[in-house]
Amino acid sequence: PQALQELMTSRIAEYPDFPEPGVLFRDITPLLADPVAFHAIISHWCSILPERIDYIVGLEARGFVMGTPLAYELGAGFIPARKAGKLPGTPRQISYSLEYGSATVEIAENAIPAGSRVLVVDDLLATGGTAAAAIELVRQFDVELLGASFLVELQGLDGRSKLPEVPVTTVWSIPN
Ligand code: PRP
Ligand code: MG
Repeated sequence: PQALQELMTSRIAEYPDFPEPGVLFRDITPLLADPVAFHAIISHWCSILPERIDYIVGLEARGFVMGTPLAYELGAGFIPARKAGKLPGTPRQISYSLEYGSATVEIAENAIPAGSRVLVVDDLLATGGTAAAAIELVRQFDVELLGASFLVELQGLDGRSKLPEVPVTTVWSIPN
């Protein structure tokens, strides 16, 4: 809806050349700081998600902020996918390459019961590298992957193409 698009444009700040030259950084903190806007976005987001979600897997760090209110509102559980070295025990892990270097994401072993209906959530779908890795990790568990959902999608980076066969929903899809 129109009102929602206006909320997104007015509450997501743009910072050119951050964190490096040529990158347009989108800052969601004004949206989080506005209780009316935050509530409206989470309510709308819940309405476009698949039915009967058992667990939301949120990606550290900004996917935690978006994934936990969704899980709470839907009556689902929340499972953090963490950056390497934060989880105790022997988590399952996957490494993936970034523009410079690589990163590792982890989920606690036995965190997701077999047969669960799972949705992966993050704030942003850009190149899709982060989400693709998280999805591959979730698939190591014997679950039903319902899809992946993002607050913002940057169409120009074509992250969707890295998520073949995964239903993708986004609140705000923009050219770039
Ligand atoms: C950002 C963003 C997404 C990811 C999207 O996370 O929150 O998780 O990049 O980029 P991609 O689609 O190109 O992989 P970042 O790793 O910067 O860290 P943060 O969430 O911990 O702030
Ligand atoms: Mg992130």
